[in-house]
Amino acid sequence: MNLKNIIKKDIKNALIKIGTIDYDPIITLNKKIKLGHYQVNNLIKISNILNLEPYELSNKIIFNIKKKCIYKKMTFSQPGFINIFINENWISEQLEKIFISSRLGIKHSKSQNIVIDYSSPNIAKEMHIGHLRSTIIGDVTARILDFLGHNVIRANHIGDWGTQFGMLIAYLKDKKIKYDNLSLIQLEDFYCKAKKKYDIDQLFAEKSREYVVKLQNGDKYCHFIWKKLVSITMLENYKIYKKLNVTLKEKHTMGESVYNKMLPDIIQDLKNKKIAIEKNGSTIVFLKEFKNRLGEYMGVVIQKKDKGFLYSTTDIACFKYRYQKLHANRIIYYTDPRQHQHLIQAWTIAKKANYISQDLLLEHHTFGMMLSKNKRPFKTRDGNTIKLSSLLNEAKERAMRLIKNKKPKLSKKKLVKLAQIIGISAVKYADLSKNRNTNYIFNWDEMLSFEGNTAPYIQYAYTRINSILKKSIIPINKLKEKIILKEETEINLAIKILEFEEIILLIAQKGTPHILCKYLYQLATIFSNFYENCSILFSKKIKTCKSRLKLSILTAKTLKKGLNMLGIKIIKKM
Ligand code: ARG
Repeated sequence: MNLKNIIKKDIKNALIKIGTIDYDPIITLNKKIKLGHYQVNNLIKISNILNLEPYELSNKIIFNIKKKCIYKKMTFSQPGFINIFINENWISEQLEKIFISSRLGIKHSKSQNIVIDYSSPNIAKEMHIGHLRSTIIGDVTARILDFLGHNVIRANHIGDWGTQFGMLIAYLKDKKIKYDNLSLIQLEDFYCKAKKKYDIDQLFAEKSREYVVKLQNGDKYCHFIWKKLVSITMLENYKIYKKLNVTLKEKHTMGESVYNKMLPDIIQDLKNKKIAIEKNGSTIVFLKEFKNRLGEYMGVVIQKKDKGFLYSTTDIACFKYRYQKLHANRIIYYTDPRQHQHLIQAWTIAKKANYISQDLLLEHHTFGMMLSKNKRPFKTRDGNTIKLSSLLNEAKERAMRLIKNKKPKLSKKKLVKLAQIIGISAVKYADLSKNRNTNYIFNWDEMLSFEGNTAPYIQYAYTRINSILKKSIIPINKLKEKIILKEETEINLAIKILEFEEIILLIAQKGTPHILCKYLYQLATIFSNFYENCSILFSKKIKTCKSRLKLSILTAKTLKKGLNMLGIKIIKKM
């Protein structure tokens, strides 16, 4: 149940009756419910269009919808607002439905096939902090769309194809390195050295290219080593996904190599369709839609002189595959904003070639950078990129110190387990709680604090409600009576619980988990107010006690579901 939407529709219909054809009213949830639970905001604008005074317009709107049982009262306030008070009985009925539902009353949406392209690290390199945002923000969107009943196809588009494999194979052979027990750290080191050698040693470069051709032609030996290198890398990455509580599994890996077989046909087809032309030995698509700095049409190279394919070629094929084979209705990319032009170009070419339909939705959900306190990109002391594994280790260590201080008697085993959850949740939450479109400053102390919009605060709030519930002697199945909403803090809490669905639907559209974090933070704070003002277990009347227990259970359920959607583990005891 999306209350804001209901109000919006009612106001819209009233406006149609009054005479405006199409106008989207702005509805907001009020912080202070004394002024009404919700507010209609931009009345002055509409009243100008209709040539009415704002209060006249407001009266007309109120007259048109006041009879609906949702509304208790509506009042006009200067200069152009309508304050809406929701009927407490109606709220209580809605809460009842949520209380008995395993989905918190949230209906399935009309199912779509949605591909989410996220994380997507490259082979032979450790994941670094640049991968954090794509991985965890993408995962929240996947979890939420899953929950809403969509057919979510997680696509980990790993960089597992290209010249780098020729270099690596050549290097391993040259140095007679056994690849059986290679670690990813060693592999990355070899990769760096191989790259350097490639640039200065012609013979080595030649050999590398030969290996690439061999690999492309399905040479068994090369293929075997390639598989090994991919598996060494991904084994480490899966460990990180597990630590991060991210839902990406082996079956979601659909890297560049998957599309390799399609590429020769695509080149030929684009040439046949006169979309691509050959120029100086390369195959290029010139796009009118994009101009370079000199004002010329931008050329996208799809095959190099040496016949090698490019990142763009793969993505053109990938669009085709996702549309024609996976029947995607919507594709969401979580990558660096710097890849935007690349994606749009591949998308435009795929459209021109009729590989995808005009109405397939492409969304590039970009994100800002993680910065250090001096507002520079967050790096190690010696200026290197921070590995994700070391960031997560540090999170655990820091959480361990924190918990040890608070609970010196905790057993080592429990301490480690708790520190793992608290540390990693803190890092994840700190990131997820920031608007993905902006950069943010990475701050250990802030994210591990038990105050403010942080994981520890929300996790603690959840644990606290649970401990209240545990003290109750009334079993849940005895909580049959209706929820009574009398005190202001009770109504506040109730309205906030109702807001959950609206938040989830918004993230399903925009892929912005920070809205959910903010919501959970507000919910936890509002519960806290309610708890301070309303006695739960010691209320004078049993009816009140039961009603408040139900409100507490609903809060706990919502917090739990919300944290679960964020991929953040709850803690039973803290
Ligand atoms: N592997 C790429 C990188 O690390 C990201 C891939 C994004 N997905 C795609 N279909 N291009 O930059």
